[in-house]
Amino acid sequence: MNETTLLTEGDVNFSETRKKWLSALPQATLKMLDEDADLFLHQSLSTPCMDVITSCEGIYITDANGKKYMDFHGNNVHQIGYRNKYVMDKVKQQMDVLPFCPRRYTNPVAIEFAQKLSTLLPAGLKRMLFAPGGTSSIGIALKLARAITGKHKVVSLKDSFHGASLDAIAVGGEEQFKRYMGLLCPEALNIEQPVAYRNVFDDGLDEHYADALEELIISDGQVGAFIAETIRNTDVQIPSKAYWQKIRRICDKHNVLLILDEIPIAFGRTGKMFAFEHYGIEPDMLCLGKGLGAGVIPFAAMITREEFNITKDVSLGHYTHEKSPLGCAAALSMIEFIEQEHILQKVKEDELFMKTSLAKLAEKHRLIGNVRGIGLLWGVELVKDRGTKDKAIKEAEQVMYACLQNGLSFKVSQGNVLQLSPALIIEKKELQTAIEIIGSALDTV
Ligand SMILES: Cc1ncc(COP(=O)(O)O)c(C=O)c1O
Repeated sequence: MNETTLLTEGDVNFSETRKKWLSALPQATLKMLDEDADLFLHQSLSTPCMDVITSCEGIYITDANGKKYMDFHGNNVHQIGYRNKYVMDKVKQQMDVLPFCPRRYTNPVAIEFAQKLSTLLPAGLKRMLFAPGGTSSIGIALKLARAITGKHKVVSLKDSFHGASLDAIAVGGEEQFKRYMGLLCPEALNIEQPVAYRNVFDDGLDEHYADALEELIISDGQVGAFIAETIRNTDVQIPSKAYWQKIRRICDKHNVLLILDEIPIAFGRTGKMFAFEHYGIEPDMLCLGKGLGAGVIPFAAMITREEFNITKDVSLGHYTHEKSPLGCAAALSMIEFIEQEHILQKVKEDELFMKTSLAKLAEKHRLIGNVRGIGLLWGVELVKDRGTKDKAIKEAEQVMYACLQNGLSFKVSQGNVLQLSPALIIEKKELQTAIEIIGSALDTV
């Protein structure tokens, strides 16, 4: 099968445009890329690599040739920017005192961070487990949901992604992760992604997408949980308030647990600490990761309700690096930084700027079929024809490489959505520069 036809998450690694890009890199970089390709297992989406990165700071990554890219992807770990000094100092201090805590013990910074996190969450969400990565926090949630409900099926959204392990791909929908995998567990049933195509929370035009959940719960009888990203990060799908409130009502009515995956989008990305705060709902379980470790330490968490603290005879997580003092120091200082620097307020202002600037760009370029976003999470969808919404896949790839050429890095999702998620500390003039780079790239295709 052609990679383009399967394209849901990333860009194509073997296209002519990629070859052309690679051929322009310096010899020393190409040598390292070859060494990388000789050592690491090849896999879809991340092989071969596109450049060699040797340092990072603030909103930038720098390659082996000294070229700086504004990183508008950052794998969603970069909310407060790379090598944030406040965080780095706290993590270095922790490193000097207690870098690791054996599993049967606890440690002061783990307790302090857990206390801090619970002050940010609704009163009901108090019980947590930490884990070394987002996928593991999803695994914990899926196990806990089974233990609580006694039901083994999970409903998720078509084409969703919740991590790359066997349990996470079972509830995820992306083909690249499932090929050759055979029987998956837990058994997952899919419903359509709500497609909002707009930026207002209150229109409710996507509310009917929730009905499929209730139909499945009733017809199947074995559904214990519904899992979804509150706002889909990759191609920026922002459901309405009406959609999420209906999902919450359906879950309550049928005793189905609501698991929200906010691994890529928590901590200010949407202008709130957590995305579910936009919707007036509370999850039964919340999964956090990526930016939780502030781009320094791999770290994740699953948080749930007090009444679900009922599994003392089951090891739900039990990870070696569970209550990681370094992860907790990074997470605690990341949150302190967001609060002290009023990042949430800043992101709300930046949202307006992005909305206006991208709308202007769409007026000028017929290739832009839709612009949608919230906070500093934006999707610019390229189409061949605004009426038919035919995906402009080749053009999106060309735009991405033209932007890379000019020092702006981002990912293309679904083949035609330019996904823009800069570090939240970015300055207006840097946002402006990025939009100009995208504008000139659009001029060239
Ligand atoms: C929505 C979502 N959930 C879960 C994960 C898995 O997180 P990790 O790669 O840290 O295990 C990702 C990673 O991209 C993600 O985007």
